[in-house]
Amino acid sequence: MNFGVCYYPEQWPRSLWADDAKRMAELGITHVRIAEFAWSRIEPRDGEYDWAWLDEAVATLANAGLKIILGTPTAAPPTWLTDRHPDMLAVRADGVRFNSGSRRHYDISHAGFRAAGLKITEAMARRYGRHAAVVAWQTDNELACHDTVPTYSATALQRFHAWLQRRYETIDALNDAWGTVFWSMTYASFDAIRLPNLTPTDANPIHLLDFRRFMSDEVASFHREQVDVLRRHAPDADVLHNFMGFFTTFDHYRFAADDSIDVAAWDSYPLARTETIGIAEEQKARYARTAHPDVSAFDHDRYRGVGRGRFWVMEQQAGPVNWAAWNPVPAAGMIRLWAFEAFAHGAELVSYFRWRQCPFAQEQMHSGLHLPDGQLSPGGRELQRAAEEIAASSQLSTLPAKATSPAAVALVFDYETQWMFEIQRHGRTFDYQMLAFDYYEVLREMGVDVDIVPATADLSRYKLVVVPSIAVVTDALVAQIEQSTAQWVFGPRSGSKTDGFAIPGNLPPGPLQKVLPMQVLEVESLRPTLKPATAFDDTEGIAVHWREHLSVANATRIDARFEDGWPAIVGSGKVRYVAAWLDHALHRALLRRAAHDAGVAVHALPDGIRLRRRGNVMFAFNFGDAPADVPAPANASFVLGGPQIATGDVAAWVAD
Ligand code: GAL
Repeated sequence: MNFGVCYYPEQWPRSLWADDAKRMAELGITHVRIAEFAWSRIEPRDGEYDWAWLDEAVATLANAGLKIILGTPTAAPPTWLTDRHPDMLAVRADGVRFNSGSRRHYDISHAGFRAAGLKITEAMARRYGRHAAVVAWQTDNELACHDTVPTYSATALQRFHAWLQRRYETIDALNDAWGTVFWSMTYASFDAIRLPNLTPTDANPIHLLDFRRFMSDEVASFHREQVDVLRRHAPDADVLHNFMGFFTTFDHYRFAADDSIDVAAWDSYPLARTETIGIAEEQKARYARTAHPDVSAFDHDRYRGVGRGRFWVMEQQAGPVNWAAWNPVPAAGMIRLWAFEAFAHGAELVSYFRWRQCPFAQEQMHSGLHLPDGQLSPGGRELQRAAEEIAASSQLSTLPAKATSPAAVALVFDYETQWMFEIQRHGRTFDYQMLAFDYYEVLREMGVDVDIVPATADLSRYKLVVVPSIAVVTDALVAQIEQSTAQWVFGPRSGSKTDGFAIPGNLPPGPLQKVLPMQVLEVESLRPTLKPATAFDDTEGIAVHWREHLSVANATRIDARFEDGWPAIVGSGKVRYVAAWLDHALHRALLRRAAHDAGVAVHALPDGIRLRRRGNVMFAFNFGDAPADVPAPANASFVLGGPQIATGDVAAWVAD
């Protein structure tokens, strides 16, 4: 369990560097990330490099015993480059081109920009790739952030044409697959296809989906080109990218395929994330200072899956941030809690954003581990405490490098499902990721450890597999179900589309009918005033956002019906299908039953308490607003805290 920090030597006088480095080491920090926005300082003019300052910064940090993560600086292209290629600025869906003067303004498809990005990457990698202190490389920074992907530029269109040609080979095949006979959209050649923006009403959903698939591949190939350079010059270093929370613009599983990353890193801003995601206002209010208890855990578990077991938190919130609608100070204890929470979920490194609050420019209202004058911030003091606690505990400092794997429960997450249901919401409030989050929250409320995985993962070792929804059910997934001994729960809209974004010939849930004989006849999205009621295992509740009308074969069980007679939950053997987005209480009743049938142990946890086990240590966290008991055995040997913990506190005990 290591601590890190994001540091910007270029923003501070050199006279501070050595002392900063010394104090990092004294605080228990082992890793420091630098340079990801320093392009114009490294290459002030085209082809003219100034390495002196970066050499000195690297040497200063290395001399203090710190390990360095170097960022390739492509997220902030200098003005000389945008002046040379005015068309390298990305284009928004409304056709407006971004300006320079901030960051991430580049067009990810632009050949001239890519070439310049590879050139600076190669120059850096040649210089520092074999430096003993440089242990990892981060490509760019938060790819696709600030809505800069997709880009609707001329280059994107050209590359989209090529991508379509590779996928469909002939224009006839594309016309057929896209159903372009509709609304007279038939294309005579690939060149006749436009980008799917600025249409008066809906563009063809498969056109939109293929564009999103293409853009997702663009993000992955942009990263991959840099990785190929880095691996050549820095063969021993870890390569990573810092992903974001609740972010689905590109398919992270595809991005990480073929060893494109060694470890998945992500940037965790729990309070701001709680403020921005689609949970009820009442929950945002309740968790304004602690963050929603599952908001970080969801991405810890997701990125552990993306990294095939290895993940880091590259940027961890250290105090109030500057970019949400409201930016409160975290409750006392949360900076320490979030660190232990990440470690409990398997993080190898928790690295803070940032070392010192910067008194000038865009992020002057963003806190760090120090105030602008250099004194330790409240968050900095909490990090100090956590680092001391780990150093003092033989149990904590010898935990296994990875989280216990596999967990008993898998939750399948699918990026294409998010895209398809964004393209075709059908009801204003339908958001697949939030449906997945609701199921995840229920599992975490039951004290269950969860692996979040793609549908292509080997699911054979799980006892319970929860698929909140998956638009396209493949034959391979059906084969996994047939061979599995697990309990399976499928949410609404599963199997509702083909890979070509059409309704399956045998109706939804398509190939899933092989293991669960039923058909979806009609679907409805629900305005908040429409509340079909149902009950399951003594819990009464309603469908929200979405409901389906099913016809089921005689052999299929009906586990719950709506008041008007339509099936709500149906099942066949180990597979259940939920014909609606049920309210939280019903999801809880359903997953409790599924966990029971699967032989997965659940806890009755006090409100706001969460558990996570790593190695033989069980951690408990209190996100609630009152002190609460943790479910430790009476004779538990505590490593942190005790049987009762206050808001923002952590307990940990030996669990064997
Ligand atoms: C991240 C970004 C950082 C910094 C931070 C502020 O999204 O990677 O550079 O801007 O947000 O919270």
